[in-house]
Amino acid sequence: MQAFQENVFRKYSNFIYENFGIYLNEEKKELLQSKLLKLMMKHKTASYEAYFNLLTQSGNREILVEFANEITINKTDFFREINHFEFIKKNSDLILERNKRIRRNSEIRVWSAGCSTGEEAYTLAMVLQEHFLPGLLIKILATDLNSKVVSQAMKGVYPSSIKGDMDILYLSKYFEKVQNEWYVTESTKRLVTFRLFNLMDDFPFKKLFDFIFCRNVMIYFDSKTQQRLIDKFYEVLAPGGLLFIGHSESLTNKKHKYQYIQPTIYMK
Ligand SMILES: C[S@@+](CC[C@H](N)C(=O)[O-])C[C@H]1O[C@@H](n2cnc3c(N)ncnc32)[C@H](O)[C@@H]1O
Repeated sequence: MQAFQENVFRKYSNFIYENFGIYLNEEKKELLQSKLLKLMMKHKTASYEAYFNLLTQSGNREILVEFANEITINKTDFFREINHFEFIKKNSDLILERNKRIRRNSEIRVWSAGCSTGEEAYTLAMVLQEHFLPGLLIKILATDLNSKVVSQAMKGVYPSSIKGDMDILYLSKYFEKVQNEWYVTESTKRLVTFRLFNLMDDFPFKKLFDFIFCRNVMIYFDSKTQQRLIDKFYEVLAPGGLLFIGHSESLTNKKHKYQYIQPTIYMK
């Protein structure tokens, strides 16, 4: 196996950081190496340098997307970190009181930023239909950098193992079982729009969001990138809107204008 020199690792890690915000420390060196070897074999490039040139100089967007698909970590589950969904269920009065936009427009706009294969977005769709103000128009945008997970999310088809992740009520009401797979019902799929989007890019949104879920995404970024992102989220949240972050994440040590509600939940 070709040696993965320190300077070559640094070249790749800088590229990943600059393009995707993902910070790789020394400990990730071997993991990156094995992913690169796979890509190099596929493209029949003889060295790390040759593949780097292909990646950075060919102007081929597909190669860049394929690279992003390889280096991202996409672990997710339905009802992951359930206390966020419990919070929404139990606090609709507070949410509607502080964010007047929702009742006024009879609409709730949610962003699942770093949605992976869609479980977070569909969980939100189920919880909002089941437990939030009835009759509300629910609009969920779900985005990710990885094109593979976005395509999978759009299909809304999950293995039988999801049975263990949720109450039977949700499973029977919001899924259809076909052979051994569970299909999200069309009426729930319609509430979610999936898009490929890099969080490092400028946000193109014209309308504000009432909830932003960005969970277990910022753990891959360094403090500077996290700071930039939480500032950008603030700009696109409605007054009284909520930011939910992952349980191992926090805004402590960041400069921000959010109101702390409880660990991992912040309000504009
Ligand atoms: C571990 S998953 C978290 C999924 C879900 N939010 C959850 O908590 O279960 C992290 C996701 O963030 C995405 N991601 C990483 N960097 C990104 C970036 N710069 N822009 C958009 N998505 C990114 C990855 O592709 C991955 O699907």
